[in-house]
Amino acid sequence: MKKIISVVGARPNFMKMAPVHKQLLKHKSKVTHRIVHTGQHYDRKMSDVFFRELELPKPHIYLGIGSRTHAVQKAMIMTEFEKVILKEKPDLVLVYGDVNSTAAAAIVCSKILTDSGRSVPVAHIESGLRSFDRTMPEEINRMITDVLADFLFVTEPGGVKNLLNEGIDKNKIFFTGNTMIDSLGSYLKKAKRSQILKELCISPKNYTLVTLHRPSNVDNKENLKKIISIFKNINKLNPALDIVFPVHPRTLKMLGKFGLEDHFYSIKNLIVTEPLGYFDFLNLIRNAKFILTDSGGIQEETTFLKVPCITLRENTERPVTSEIGTNVICGLDEKKIMKHIMEIENGKFKKGRTPKLWDGKAAERIVKVLLKKLK
Ligand code: UD1
Repeated sequence: MKKIISVVGARPNFMKMAPVHKQLLKHKSKVTHRIVHTGQHYDRKMSDVFFRELELPKPHIYLGIGSRTHAVQKAMIMTEFEKVILKEKPDLVLVYGDVNSTAAAAIVCSKILTDSGRSVPVAHIESGLRSFDRTMPEEINRMITDVLADFLFVTEPGGVKNLLNEGIDKNKIFFTGNTMIDSLGSYLKKAKRSQILKELCISPKNYTLVTLHRPSNVDNKENLKKIISIFKNINKLNPALDIVFPVHPRTLKMLGKFGLEDHFYSIKNLIVTEPLGYFDFLNLIRNAKFILTDSGGIQEETTFLKVPCITLRENTERPVTSEIGTNVICGLDEKKIMKHIMEIENGKFKKGRTPKLWDGKAAERIVKVLLKKLK
């Protein structure tokens, strides 16, 4: 019997892991799967709700690290996760995406020798993505994880190219598709039953959905002011359009710190909510006229659902979403943003296609490779 440990910590990890967990359960005579939650995200609304909705078991091991400075958070995850590895002796560790928990776990595995004298093998799910912007903490996490991983599972063709350019052995790279889209596909029916539109008193295609939490946008007063000004211009362009904004804890904290709360709450038609669960959020994406975001995953979910997405970043590590999907990269360039909103209002915005292998079967392909390699 082989033992696989998945390490998750922050909100976007959970939906990437869920389909892999379900596939592994199908092979439970050959492999046990244990879930380690680092506690990077600890609020009920940032973590528990996802475990419940994604039908995941309670994490087998909870490290309870919580919010810290970058170095302390990673160091504490590493210290605690090392103990887990020494005790559990897994045959393989799975890490997901690009958060601090991902890179911290990969580093630990690379430095522990197993009984066979090798380091603990690591598989990186959502490997190869690059924004080429090293000011993003996530970019550093991606690079560290990919350099250490033994199996690299890639979501879009550009990712394979990036890894090859970095000199990664092609035998370690597998283009298997996107497990986040596996989750979206399998939970869409349930998400459609969410009552969130009724609860917020909004109607389909008559609101924009906003998410913002990147340090480059929200940890900078001038940029936060620019963003508020963009919302006020949207008010002018379409006075009937609601602006639905589930606010990330980091963003809320920064609005307070910079004394911008009054300015923010004077935006018209603004509906602020706490972070939402998976089903409510998917239902809001599906019915939105368009999305304004700086998230990574939402660029993919909107491409899959064919909803226009205006990304408030200078770059994307997910180029397939702008090349063939419904995403446009605008930074905080107000002119560009308003131009695209006009296109959406006039029905002239691009339509987009579904990227290759975003077919709901990524986890199945990944588990097939893993079982073969673990023999
Ligand atoms: C992290 C990930 C980011 C991901 C995002 C999704 C890294 C480097 N960043 O960013 O890639 O897109 O999660 O949400 O790993 N906080 C709470 N409750 C929580 C979690 C956080 O209040 O449950 C607050 C804390 O005050 C913390 C701040 O949010 O200081 C930021 O949390 P942190 O996990 O450091 O990064 P995120 O901005 O959430």
